[in-house]
Amino acid sequence: MIGVFDSGLGGLTVVKELLKRLPNYKILYFGDTARTPYGTKSPETVCKYAIENTRFLLARGAKIIVVACHTVSSTSIPILRESFPDVPFFEVVTPSFKKALRLTKNKKIGLIGTRTTVESGIYQRLFSEADPEIKLYTNPAPLLVPLIEEGWLKKPETRSIVKKYLIPLKMRGIDTLILACTHYPLLKKIIAEKAGKRVRLVDPSEEVAIEVAEYLSRQENVAGVVEPNGEPEVWVSDITPNFERIAGMFLNRKISLKKFSW
Ligand code: DGL
Repeated sequence: MIGVFDSGLGGLTVVKELLKRLPNYKILYFGDTARTPYGTKSPETVCKYAIENTRFLLARGAKIIVVACHTVSSTSIPILRESFPDVPFFEVVTPSFKKALRLTKNKKIGLIGTRTTVESGIYQRLFSEADPEIKLYTNPAPLLVPLIEEGWLKKPETRSIVKKYLIPLKMRGIDTLILACTHYPLLKKIIAEKAGKRVRLVDPSEEVAIEVAEYLSRQENVAGVVEPNGEPEVWVSDITPNFERIAGMFLNRKISLKKFSW
């Protein structure tokens, strides 16, 4: 069983990609809807929540853990690996960094994400270690998560806010843009349009799913094969009708949530 967790329901973008590539694995998802958002919280708080979420998934039988949340991936991975040394963890930062490194031609890379992800400085460290000539330009884009959760995917207001966030990055001449947040794949079309034809996008949900699929093709029995097309089991720490609607929007199908209380 593949365990996936996120601060809320945005991580279902990762589940969607995992289902495409790994239809024979059961997926157990936990969205911390009672404590979302993480992107405005301190790394210490995010880390504490990440440990609790991992415990929940392991207790329910997950054999590998996919950290769908960019905020957790950029702040908490060393502590998670230290706390659960026998568990294979996958996170969204490393495969996104590697993809951007492969894509960029002019070595100017842009990134949008939550404030905590941007302030973690993790991408800056990775790129300067890999190639000191790479210039990374970042811009926190805190308004995009609530707009997406409201379902404002095509509204003119959303388009103009996306444009505003991308202007400073475009002015630097970036040729690659990392969408460093679970929610942004839902705005991929608008982001691509506003970023311009010269800019290639890195979608972490695709990159991490590719990495997990490659790993499982080498270690077949680690996560345990189940019947094809099994529905993902989606647990949350709080349920409202609005959460059900948001979950459906992210997965593109109707989904029933189960509640877990701490
Ligand atoms: N899941 C978060 C991320 O990818 C976005 C939502 C939040 O701030 O909790 O960073």
